[in-house]
Amino acid sequence: MRPITGKTRLAGIIGSPISHSLSPVMHNAAFAELGLDWVFVPFAVAPERLPQAIAGLAALGVAGFNVTIPHKVAVMPLLDRIAAEAELIGAVNVVDLKDGVLTGYNTDGIGLLAALEREFGFTAPDRSVLVLGAGGAARAAAAALGSAGAAALCLTNRTPGAAHELVAGLAPRLHGAAWSVETLERLADPGFLSQFDLIVNTTSVGMKGDSFPGLTLAGLKPGLAVYDMVYAPPVTPLMKEAQACGVRTANGLSMLVAQGEAAFTIWTGLTPPQGCMARALAALARPGNP
Ligand code: ATR
Repeated sequence: MRPITGKTRLAGIIGSPISHSLSPVMHNAAFAELGLDWVFVPFAVAPERLPQAIAGLAALGVAGFNVTIPHKVAVMPLLDRIAAEAELIGAVNVVDLKDGVLTGYNTDGIGLLAALEREFGFTAPDRSVLVLGAGGAARAAAAALGSAGAAALCLTNRTPGAAHELVAGLAPRLHGAAWSVETLERLADPGFLSQFDLIVNTTSVGMKGDSFPGLTLAGLKPGLAVYDMVYAPPVTPLMKEAQACGVRTANGLSMLVAQGEAAFTIWTGLTPPQGCMARALAALARPGNP
């Protein structure tokens, strides 16, 4: 690691808990590979200390920081400006500090779009997408896909009311897409699923080796792709079932990397070296590394 100097710039991530975060590994690898005198540090910030933390980071003159659970929404009123996509998504995962002005961005949505293009060559225009879930990650996915020109966006969620609310918020602002909400039971109907080009899982289902009850992927559109935002385990039951049906799959690591790359560019004005962040994560996952 290069020495900390009087000119070292500081970036970081605030969240609670934060010890599991992979962002320090990704960003410090990119700083090192580009020879930048920057460091990236995790900060555990309890919800009740968020206003002091933001004021403190601004006073210290950090370059910028990531924001993760549980602060992505609560941070918004504490910032000076909110970028359009963050306002649409209703959450901020990147804060940039320039000339004393704190600007909130959201790179989760564009991170997903970049990951879909890298993994599948998928671009949104004219495509039909099924989004599983209706939480913050679903909102980022739906807003990004809708903004990018998806023809149809269908949301399905364990609690249908949350999906209806999400669609009611986004549809009037992204009216180029046909929006709909379906019940989870429809996942058992191959006829229903066969209309989609892409299925995106934004829920935590799969993290514990669990799956969507009744989901039937047999008989799907050739060329369908399944993107699972879960990345641990690296192959979820949803992905396994999709693979068994000959469907292309990818896990959420590529989105994690792409949202990080976009944040890096916001802070530094530079593009991280291609593959650098992904390689840093892969090295971390190798046996022998805790
Ligand atoms: P995030 O911000 O990461 O999206 P969240 O806002 O807590 O997290 O949303 C989690 C999503 O996963 C929700 O859509 C949730 O469904 P509910 O709205 O019904 O809670 C979904 N989810 C979590 N556990 C689930 C399970 N066991 N089965 C189905 N959906 C589940």
